[in-house]
Amino acid sequence: MDDETIEAVGDVLRGGRYVKGPVVEAFEEEFADHCGTEYAVGVNSGTAAILLGLQAAEIGEGDDVFVPAHTYFASVSPVLFLDANPVFVDVRTDTYTIDPNDLEQKITTADNPAAVIPVHIYGQMAEMDRVTEIAKTHNLHVVSDSCQAHFAEQNGQKAGSIADIGAFSFYPSKNMTVAGDGGMLVTDDDELARRARALRNHGRDEAGVHRHLGLNYRMSEVLGAVGKQQLKRVDDWNAGRRRAASVYDDRLADIDEVVAPAENTDNKHVYHLYVVQVPDRSNLREYLDENGIGTGIHYPTPAHEHPAVVERCGETSIEFVEGLCERIISLPMHPRLSEEEVHTVCDHIEEYYT
Ligand SMILES: Cc1ncc(COP(=O)(O)O)c(C=O)c1O
Repeated sequence: MDDETIEAVGDVLRGGRYVKGPVVEAFEEEFADHCGTEYAVGVNSGTAAILLGLQAAEIGEGDDVFVPAHTYFASVSPVLFLDANPVFVDVRTDTYTIDPNDLEQKITTADNPAAVIPVHIYGQMAEMDRVTEIAKTHNLHVVSDSCQAHFAEQNGQKAGSIADIGAFSFYPSKNMTVAGDGGMLVTDDDELARRARALRNHGRDEAGVHRHLGLNYRMSEVLGAVGKQQLKRVDDWNAGRRRAASVYDDRLADIDEVVAPAENTDNKHVYHLYVVQVPDRSNLREYLDENGIGTGIHYPTPAHEHPAVVERCGETSIEFVEGLCERIISLPMHPRLSEEEVHTVCDHIEEYYT
């Protein structure tokens, strides 16, 4: 948070217009521009962006929505909220993004295929050429969960832009934030954008009529002011993350026990997280912790195993994801992580395994 950001927030506070104002509007325009989409709609979380994306696409009761089994709970909860059925799909064993072959397979046995939510997990885009082709064949809406992948690219196109709707989160740990909870929905479709705008504001249309059933998902002007400033710097921060990742890649290639993340050649990964697979994860975590190195697990539970999901969907098994969740560990990653710091982490991992 630099002085310019603090100044911009001060301007909003002094100005006295806190919602439905010009700052969020400008942030939306700049975000859409940066993303390469026609429209962007600011909301109050990434979860809201996914929910309103599905709702704008008229996904509802009885619709089957395909979701990768390896993701955060919020990729799935909006589906359940709309009384639609999540259908869990396996992920690729190298990139952990949705497996298009399994997606095709699951579509053939579904009753009402309606939408797919490819998740750009850890900052790398799912194979959107395959996903969109499959979606076209089966008439599915595509809502990409881009919450972890601000300005990741695939063949030069940005995350969120290769879908009917893209959903972003600005939760403080994300590649860019609004210093609080916030989200953005992007689309090229003017009707979807219009509906999403109405849905975030009590379902109220331009004429002031509550035509849809909507709640309040608006973004505040103060947070919009922070987002506008962060947008100017996110590309540099992503470059910093990529630099740290390449040092990790070089060092970890020499440690047999560690499976480093794979980056598809078409992709520009933005390393929201740097996640490796290891044997005996809990001992390694403890060892790193004793040496002052914090780690995380994203995520310890497969999406289909959360009690709130099982209660609605029953039990399913997705073997690869279940094993993966026991082996993954997120190593330190942020834009200002220095080369020396990455070496220190890798020295300790090396020490542990030797
Ligand atoms: C993959 C994924 N989907 C959805 C979300 C939900 O975003 P938010 O926390 O802003 O509601 C997050 C972030 O927490 C996420 O990482």
